Amino acid sequence: MATALQVPWQWLVRLLLVGCVMPWAEGGKVLVVPMDGSHWLSMKDLVRELHSRGHQAVVLAPEVSLQIRGDDFFTLKSFAFPYTQEEFNNFLSEGSFIIETQNILETFLTIMPSFKKFSELYEKSCVQMLRNSTLISQLNASSFDVVLTDPVFPCGAVLAQYLSIPTVFFLRGIPCGLDFEGTQCPHPFSYIPQMFTTHSDHMTFLQRVKNMLYPVGLKLFCHMVFSPYASFASELLQKEVSVVDFLSHASVWLMRWDFVLEYPRPIMPNMVFIGGINCMRRKPLSQVCIGASVQSVSQQKLLSSA
Ligand SMILES: *[C@@H]1O[C@H](CO)[C@@H](O)[C@H](O)[C@H]1NC(C)=O
Ligand SMILES: *[C@@H]1O[C@H](CO)[C@@H](O)[C@H](O)[C@H]1NC(C)=O
Repeated sequence: MATALQVPWQWLVRLLLVGCVMPWAEGGKVLVVPMDGSHWLSMKDLVRELHSRGHQAVVLAPEVSLQIRGDDFFTLKSFAFPYTQEEFNNFLSEGSFIIETQNILETFLTIMPSFKKFSELYEKSCVQMLRNSTLISQLNASSFDVVLTDPVFPCGAVLAQYLSIPTVFFLRGIPCGLDFEGTQCPHPFSYIPQMFTTHSDHMTFLQRVKNMLYPVGLKLFCHMVFSPYASFASELLQKEVSVVDFLSHASVWLMRWDFVLEYPRPIMPNMVFIGGINCMRRKPLSQVCIGASVQSVSQQKLLSSA
C-alpha cells in the first residue's frame, strides 16, 4: 500500500523537475520600452534574439513613430502621442537636429529649440501613458519578469520602478555623465574626456579646464530633458526621486560600445559591453563607399605631403 502511494509521488517530482528544465519553462516575459529612431534598430535585433530563445516580448511605444513598427516576434502596444504621424514628420523635417559646426555654443543655440520641443512631446506622451490607469493595471497584471529599456527615453525606467520590475538598460550613453552617476562610476575630469570635447584621455592643463567647463552647458540641456521625469516620478511613487535615483534602478547596463573605440574609463561589474551589436547586419562596402574612402585617404596623403 505504502509503495503504491510512493511511486506516483516520485513520478510527480520527476515530472516537475523535467518541467523546470524544459525550454518552454525558461521563457520569460519582457516589457520593452525603446527609444525611437536609430536607437530602436539595434534593440530590435536583441528582441528578435530573445524571441528566438523562447521569451515573450511586449514592446510599449508611442503610436506615432519613426522606426517602431509591429513585427511577428513581439507584441506591439502603443500609447497616445500629442502629434499625428504627419505633424511629427513635418516637425522633424523643419526642425534643426543636425550638428553641423565645431562650435559647441553655436550648435547648442541652433539645436536647442528643436530638441526642447522633441523632448516635450515624448515627456507629454509618457506622462499620459503613466496616468492611464487601465493601461497600468493591464501591464501590472501581465507580471513581466524584466523591463528592457533605453534610458535616454527615461519613461521605461520610471515605469519599471512604478511596477517594481527589475530593469535592464540598453544604451549607447546618456549625456551629462548621468550613466556614470547611475552606475556610481567615478569620472574625474582630468582623465575622462567629456562628450563633444574631442579630447583624449591625455589632456593638457587647458584641455582639462575646458573638459570641466563643457558639462556646464550640457547640464542645462539635461536638466531640461530629464528633470520633468524626476518630478513626475516623485508624484507617481509618492516619494522624492531624482533622475539618478531612477537611473540607479537598473540591475544590468548593456552598453552599446566597445573599448576598441573608446578611451579607458572606470566601469562597474553590472556593465556589459555589447558594442558588436551595432554591426549585426554586416554588408560588404559598396563601390561608392570604397571609392570615397580611397579618395579621402589619398587626399589626406596629399595634404600631409604638401
Ligand atoms: C488607456 O489605455 C487603454 C488600454 O491600452 C486604451 O484603450 C485607452 O485608449 C487609453 N486611454 C487614454 C486616454 O489614452
Ligand atoms: C500591481 O499589482 C499589485 C498586486 O495586485 C499591487 O499591490 C500594486 O499596487 C500594483 N501596482 C500598480 C502600480 O498598480
